[in-house]
Amino acid sequence: MKINDKEPLQTYVAASSRYDQMKFRRCGKSGLDLPAISLGLWHNFGHSDDFKLGREIVRTAFDLGITHFDLANNYGPPYGAAEENFGRIFKKDLLPYRDELLISSKAGWDMWPGPYGNFGSKKYLVASLNQSLKRMGLEYVDIFYHHRPDPNTPLDETMSALDLLVRQGKALYVGISQYSAEDTAKASKILNELGTPCLIHQPRYNMMDRWVEDGLLQVLEKSGIGAIAFSPLEQGVLTDKYLNGFPEDSRAVKDGRYLKSDAITPEILAKVKALNAIAIERGQSLAQMAIAWLLKSPAITSVLVGVSKASQLHDNVKSLDNLDFSTAELKNIEAILKE
Ligand SMILES: NC(=O)c1ccc[n+]([C@@H]2O[C@H](COP(=O)([O-])OP(=O)(O)OC[C@H]3O[C@@H](n4cnc5c(N)ncnc54)[C@H](OP(=O)(O)O)[C@@H]3O)[C@@H](O)[C@H]2O)c1
Repeated sequence: MKINDKEPLQTYVAASSRYDQMKFRRCGKSGLDLPAISLGLWHNFGHSDDFKLGREIVRTAFDLGITHFDLANNYGPPYGAAEENFGRIFKKDLLPYRDELLISSKAGWDMWPGPYGNFGSKKYLVASLNQSLKRMGLEYVDIFYHHRPDPNTPLDETMSALDLLVRQGKALYVGISQYSAEDTAKASKILNELGTPCLIHQPRYNMMDRWVEDGLLQVLEKSGIGAIAFSPLEQGVLTDKYLNGFPEDSRAVKDGRYLKSDAITPEILAKVKALNAIAIERGQSLAQMAIAWLLKSPAITSVLVGVSKASQLHDNVKSLDNLDFSTAELKNIEAILKE
């Protein structure tokens, strides 16, 4: 990350008010509570991003009661950079608060060359978590995920790798991400038999991406597994930022790897505009309404946001002031989304 030490940040002391506002929700049938809003470090924590800004985002999150920070081996760029930068921030600011934090990482996508740096073998998962721990300077992660299903590796092997890492003390809990309802039920059964229940599933879920409603949420509730929804703001589309053009500092313009500006079509913007009008009537920003809309489901333990500025975190946490929807509001939202 770019180092800007002309104005060094003051020594960090966490806000004494940090637990005043945040709501905590039980993760499935486990003993663990997650903050209703968690912070993901997929974007904005690479080596070309501003370290001071990243540090401010992490400090602001913890001051707002966001105790959960979500990483993966290959977040960057380059791969590994977000874990390295989080590790530096952790050492500078958060070390005294380790027992107040839930830090997660994942492996499952491409990470290093050759046959042992991708997918779901025990060889890959064990090596990857060892590397992640070194990069972050941690003794253990709180949650370790298999990042995506691997149809070419026996599920027994992948799940037994997760179980092994818990037994080695390198992870406290395990989770899966992007698994279908069917594969989730199979993985959960194997993990239960091994004695390391699946804590959590991390699916993509937001008002515009509803695949989880087609069976996955029911499986999770039945199996006592929590859920943390990623890309809850559709990478920023479900905010008011694109309503008056494409801001230079937005993900669609300045990044464009995963959110392409031409994917934000006039049809999508028409829906966003109509949703924004409902949010305004509710006294919320659209980002706040999109988060509240996810949290209305008891199956959703936490909403995993990304932010490019600390001010966006303040905005997002205010969603907790109004989590209730009237039947008419829900009906109007559905009508807009189905148009
Ligand atoms: N398991 C997986 O496979 C997987 C995949 C993807 C992501 N994830 C996890 O999910 C996390 C979140 O994903 P995401 O970054 O796509 O989430 P997101 O919350 O849908 O999008 C984040 C972007 O939305 C914009 N934003 C956030 N709050 C805003 C606000 N209040 N007002 C206006 N704009 C706002 C910012 O965009 P600008 O940059 O334009 O300001 C921010 O970078 C990741 O960091 C990662 O931990 C997991």
